[in-house]
Amino acid sequence: MQLRRLLLAVLIETATVTAFVSWKDSVSRTSSDLLRKRIGKYQTDGTSTVENFVKSALQNDPSTNPLFVDLPLDHFGQNPGGQRIQSRYFVQDAYYQPGGPVIFHDIGEGSVEPWAVALTDEEDFSVSTAKRFNGLLILFEHRFYGESAPRTRVSQDLYSASRSQLTEFYKYLTIEQALEDVVYFASNFTYEFQDLPPQQLTPDKTPWIYIGVSYSGVRGAWLAKRNPGLFKATLASSAPVQLKVNFWEYFTAIEDALAINNQNCSADLHAAANWFSQVYQTRESALIDQFIDAVYQEGWQDIVRRRPGDVESDLIWDARLDFMKDAAWTAFADFQNYGVNGGTLGRFCDIMETAYDPEGTPEGVFATETLQRAAAAYAKAVASMSRYSYTSSRRTQGNQKRQDGFKPALDSGLDSYSWLWQVCTEFGAFQVANTSRPENLLPSFVNVTAQIDQCIDMFGLSEQVSRAGPDVEVINQRYQGWYLELPNTLWTNGEFDPWRALSIDSKEEDAPTNDTATTDIPQCGGSFPAGTQLRYLIRDGYHGSDVSENILNADIIGNIGDLSPTKTIGNGITATLRRNPTSTRSYLAGTPIMDALNAQSLWFNAMSSWLPCSTLPFTYTAAQATSSAPFTSRSPFPTDPSSGGSERTSSTGSKQGNAASSFTLPSMFIPLLISFTTFVTGVSGVL
Ligand SMILES: *[C@@H]1O[C@H](CO)[C@@H](O)[C@H](O)[C@H]1NC(C)=O
Ligand SMILES: *[C@@H]1O[C@H](CO)[C@@H](O)[C@H](O)[C@H]1NC(C)=O
Ligand SMILES: *[C@@H]1O[C@H](CO)[C@@H](O)[C@H](O)[C@H]1NC(C)=O
Ligand SMILES: *[C@@H]1O[C@H](CO)[C@@H](O)[C@H](O)[C@H]1NC(C)=O
Ligand SMILES: *[C@@H]1O[C@H](CO)[C@@H](O)[C@H](O)[C@H]1NC(C)=O
Repeated sequence: MQLRRLLLAVLIETATVTAFVSWKDSVSRTSSDLLRKRIGKYQTDGTSTVENFVKSALQNDPSTNPLFVDLPLDHFGQNPGGQRIQSRYFVQDAYYQPGGPVIFHDIGEGSVEPWAVALTDEEDFSVSTAKRFNGLLILFEHRFYGESAPRTRVSQDLYSASRSQLTEFYKYLTIEQALEDVVYFASNFTYEFQDLPPQQLTPDKTPWIYIGVSYSGVRGAWLAKRNPGLFKATLASSAPVQLKVNFWEYFTAIEDALAINNQNCSADLHAAANWFSQVYQTRESALIDQFIDAVYQEGWQDIVRRRPGDVESDLIWDARLDFMKDAAWTAFADFQNYGVNGGTLGRFCDIMETAYDPEGTPEGVFATETLQRAAAAYAKAVASMSRYSYTSSRRTQGNQKRQDGFKPALDSGLDSYSWLWQVCTEFGAFQVANTSRPENLLPSFVNVTAQIDQCIDMFGLSEQVSRAGPDVEVINQRYQGWYLELPNTLWTNGEFDPWRALSIDSKEEDAPTNDTATTDIPQCGGSFPAGTQLRYLIRDGYHGSDVSENILNADIIGNIGDLSPTKTIGNGITATLRRNPTSTRSYLAGTPIMDALNAQSLWFNAMSSWLPCSTLPFTYTAAQATSSAPFTSRSPFPTDPSSGGSERTSSTGSKQGNAASSFTLPSMFIPLLISFTTFVTGVSGVL
């Protein structure tokens, strides 16, 4: 039992990059992958890790000074004054002018640090929003992610914690508690500018604007319903607001994309999934091991070596399963951000299809080769894409601690554990096979039952974790799922984003059909007929395309806001939207999503319209002036009082130039501190 959990725990961590279909997916393939796009351009060499980069940025960049707010751990209990939790946030105040809005960018399920490094980048979407509207930009870290977690023995060593300790630790990681954090934070927000006395910038005094993508986009939408008027405008980008436990529809976007230009690969991935399903069901260990060995080499051999003569044990079978799940996910790992040709999938397909024939065949390798040779072609593609095909470093004991100078340090697996807790207890959205579909791309062992079993393995059965999986209908009822209608909200989605299937722009069979999208900006408070909302589907877009695409340097290209948001994209527009030459290279795929710029433009126009809005007052008991400030706050930035807001770039310009000019192509995956070999090490500790 403990052992199974161990395998799981380690795999979840490694999954930050490719593996383990469901759990990590939302984490790694939302926030982090969005970031990878931007972080690429800050990387100074191909090998530097995100963490290294963040660290080097920390040394030079005043905008990465963290601030902490002290929040009640339990907002709804008898004693809100009791236990506290410190949430981290960063502020960019260089553009702020009195009367300007507070731009609240909610980071969602991950560390705020990688976003903070973009605080001086005027091509960054949120920074650009702040600049245009003379706003104060806040990047807010969600409770139980990054550094925003209670520092207990459990959070310092999650790996050693028992299930009940984990369950107790995560008791207050809920949707509602985390939403209330935002309300509390905003309602008490005071900011100390360097040259001014502390300013109370609460939503009754100054307009607050919400920006969120993916889970944080969902949070923005829910907050708009839950606390009307708290935010005067909300951007809910790629927000999967309809919760569903069995989310096989995730893969339909991938199937559709493959069907267009990669029919051989489409057929082969389907055949490979079937092959996996079959060899697992019939327990053909020799074939499976041959495959795993070809892909994972030393990592796998290590495991087998440690259990000689025991290759049929449950432990080894669990390991096989985990390796196969990792392999099965590899091809799709970054589709939601880059699509077929821009990301892993296109290259994966090329390697597989040309394994024996440099031209490839229209039918694919499974149709033209023996099963064994076809499986080998598939293995070759997985091995080429997987960063786990080699063992380079190895962790010796326990979980790695974060190397960030915070004491006591939190467990490096915190974000992964926390998101796992959230999907197991409230979100679901398990991305699984649907083997009854002829296009299915995943093996049958990637299924909901298996995912829930892993929740139970990890946290044990409890009030929150059940065999039925999370009760998503409670949330769908409370927030109306994809029927949610909101004033002063812009919904954006990517045409090919797999998460679109759970958004209000879903084209699934059971998705709403009685609603209407418009790009006419409604007046403050919403003045459209029921069912009509401000929505933009980004053509050729993926997950969070609007927020992750750089804002073009407005000073060079002119005012993006002048673009008609509904303008059809064509060559003419592509030519108009000149890309700053230094930033073009920040795209892994080299293919910026041009229509994302129209979504950005729509957002700016909507903000212009809604900012002066006063029809949605937000009231609460004003914070009392107390002797002790509700939270620490200081200005990380020297502000230059002599220059105007939008020109105020003194603290940013040169940094940005340096970063851009030293850019090299980012490596394929987000570099991780934890290597796959921890799997092996972890197992050995128990064996
Ligand atoms: C087959 O695969 C190769 C490599 O991915 C690709 O270039 C080619 O267009 C595909 N052929 C067909 C007919 O789909
Ligand atoms: C799998 O797909 C079929 C056909 O599209 C659909 O009818 C069925 O409901 C899906 N299975 C699940 C569990 O949703
Ligand atoms: C679900 O997956 C597990 C392993 O991941 C497997 O043992 C089980 O047979 C699968 N169930 C179905 C119905 O395929
Ligand atoms: C659309 O249909 C849903 C579900 O039947 C309903 O709850 C909602 O009120 C409808 N919206 C409009 C604008 O008619
Ligand atoms: C913070 O805001 C909440 C409202 O959400 C209020 O109840 C609380 O008293 C405020 N705390 C302080 C210290 O002002």
